[in-house]
Amino acid sequence: MFQGESIEVLPLQDGLVELRFDRRGEAINKLDARTVDEFRQATERIAASPDVRGVLVTSAKDVFIVGADITEFGATFQQAEADIARGVRASNELFNAFEDLKVPSVVAINGFALGGGLELAMLAPLRVMADTAQVGVPEVKLGLFPGFGGTVRLSRLAGLATAIDWVASGKPAKAPAALAAGVTDEVAAPEALRDRALALLQRAVRGEIDWRAAQQRKRAPLALSKQEAGALVETARTQVAARSGKHQPAAIIALEMMAEAAGRDRAGALDLESAAFGRVAKTQAAASLVQAFLNDQALKKLYKRHAREGRQVKQAAVLGAGIMGGGIAYTSALRGTPVRMKDIAQPQLDLGMAEAGKQLAKQVKNGRLAQAKADAIRASIVPQLDEAGFDSVDCVVEAVVENLEVKRKVLAALEGSVKPGTVIASNTSSLRIDDIAQPLARPEDFVGMHFFNPVPVMQLVEVIQGAKTSNAAVSTAVGYAVAMGKTPIVVKDCPGFLVNRILTPYINAFVQLVADGADFEAVDRAMEAFGWPMGPAYLQDVVGMDVGAHVGDVIAAGYPQRMPALERNAVKLMVANKRYGQKNGAGFYRYENDPTGRPRKSAAPEAHALVATLQPQGRRDFADTEIVERMMLPMVVEAAHALEDGVVATPAELDMALLLGVGFPAYAGGALKYADWLGLDRVVALCDKHAALGAPYVPTARMREMAARKLRYYPV
Ligand SMILES: NC(=O)c1ccc[n+]([C@@H]2O[C@H](COP(=O)([O-])OP(=O)(O)OC[C@H]3O[C@@H](n4cnc5c(N)ncnc54)[C@H](O)[C@@H]3O)[C@@H](O)[C@H]2O)c1
Repeated sequence: MFQGESIEVLPLQDGLVELRFDRRGEAINKLDARTVDEFRQATERIAASPDVRGVLVTSAKDVFIVGADITEFGATFQQAEADIARGVRASNELFNAFEDLKVPSVVAINGFALGGGLELAMLAPLRVMADTAQVGVPEVKLGLFPGFGGTVRLSRLAGLATAIDWVASGKPAKAPAALAAGVTDEVAAPEALRDRALALLQRAVRGEIDWRAAQQRKRAPLALSKQEAGALVETARTQVAARSGKHQPAAIIALEMMAEAAGRDRAGALDLESAAFGRVAKTQAAASLVQAFLNDQALKKLYKRHAREGRQVKQAAVLGAGIMGGGIAYTSALRGTPVRMKDIAQPQLDLGMAEAGKQLAKQVKNGRLAQAKADAIRASIVPQLDEAGFDSVDCVVEAVVENLEVKRKVLAALEGSVKPGTVIASNTSSLRIDDIAQPLARPEDFVGMHFFNPVPVMQLVEVIQGAKTSNAAVSTAVGYAVAMGKTPIVVKDCPGFLVNRILTPYINAFVQLVADGADFEAVDRAMEAFGWPMGPAYLQDVVGMDVGAHVGDVIAAGYPQRMPALERNAVKLMVANKRYGQKNGAGFYRYENDPTGRPRKSAAPEAHALVATLQPQGRRDFADTEIVERMMLPMVVEAAHALEDGVVATPAELDMALLLGVGFPAYAGGALKYADWLGLDRVVALCDKHAALGAPYVPTARMREMAARKLRYYPV
């Protein structure tokens, strides 16, 4: 009856037809422009066929429909707000046409029905869901909300409170929750799904189910007074605001729109939804979060290539059972790669095992792990004082003390205990991979794997390729990091690698601002208001002032032109006064443990008094915008340098590293996405405005060229 690239309509018995989503040549179904157009054609064909008495909607894939095609968003969102709104409103008419068919329909939801997939499923009067399937509207994670009538129909099927919860959280629901919410009419075992859906359709055709009433309910306003809707929204608002990321307004905009739309009929409610969708589509958060999603997809594709080119790490080892080594061993075992953990001190091994035991007990207590499984994971970490069994490991991660001579000695000895081809990775945070590699006989097997503290929590791993590191070793390290559930980014060997190199000019800008008279608490407030989880002073306290100062020295030595050591340096002053930050209770702030053992921060007048000694001209007030410009521009400039120097291959990798490694505000998407949002012409103009501040504010020639030619780091 209809045959497209993504949809076919086939006749069944007794005047029934099956509309089947089966995207040619792909493993999943998605709602791209082509599929939406085919859906329009299929609907028209069905509407024009007097013989059709009912429609069964199915998927031939493991999923139902995973959502819209996010690669199409960029171009669409370039349009003006009103045009975006008009576009989605027009698509809504196609969806309405299916909802307004004169015959009943039943959707068989066999797997994920997310975003546009669920919106489409809600067009039918009836749904049956496999007990293994999940439904949801995750658009908020992209800085958006459903724009194909999802907020309207979900409110009418599940009630306003549940709809707000689903839209604002973006969390998918399993079958029992979907049934309780009224989003599905029945739940079936996967193998019985089709028969159950067909039986329901036949009952509707026979008039045993009032499917017209179900459709009518979705066209009418909600049976809720304005006051009731208002009260409900006020209750939800605080929770939704608390759950939303900084400068991510989609959930709040959705909430307000849904409350107003509750009192409108379908056409009126869809008008509101489309108009509000146009608004959120133009936000910085939507632009950045959509880009981050695409960047993540691009990384996953890269990982597939590395998996082909590297060797699988079936057995690993770590050297050093300290903070990092212990964390790496635990994470490796937890994610299924058994690991030998070697240290030179038995107490350190005991500590490492105790820490792993503590983490596993927590997982068991939270119900995330069965006790037997936790025991097996613990048993897959073998603590040892020698290198027994190292001849059968695929990768060793070295995490001994940060000292070049010690590392060289330890690694040269290690080469004798492992087979050629075993990848040796150093978790150095500041030494050059090529320097460490110097005495090694097989530098091609040697790579950097820079994990972040605490290892079980931090997502990023910088995989550092030295001049002699083989591509196979890099791919093996990437594969191992992926197996550990991490997001590895391959970077070239340079001082500070990628993340510390780009973070340092930001910290330097802070040091300079304070030297120029800024109140460090005011800088923290401005940067937290901008979107950072913590301001730079607080960040230095958390990282540890001694660690921060050391990183600063390494970078100053590595890039003396652009990031020389600064005089009147507040971070160094804190170190000199043994104010190391959170770890010893005193830094820019004071820390005392609350009853749950968490450090609580409070103002430290003595830190202010110390800093005042660095401010010969006294305190000066800076406007928040000036603080933000002075802090963010050097970061953007250094990101441009790093990209131009080939430290990473793509803007996507650079920005992902910043999002995951330093808590770069998600709504701004990373330094390069942020530059794109501002526009390179504006970035360059702002740099010129602050030119008196020196080298960190000098844009690269390429940045100037991009500004002149209106180029961007990302296609759209
Ligand atoms: N702590 C962090 O935040 C962090 C973050 C990223 C990278 N790193 C890097 O990770 C490495 C380890 O740091 P850490 O904080 O875990 O240090 P740590 O002091 O907690 O642990 C070092 C461990 O190495 C052991 N060790 C020393 N010589 C050894 C040898 N010859 N063989 C086996 N074990 C030996 C020590 O007994 C100790 O248990 C350093 O290179 C550091 O720069 C640390």
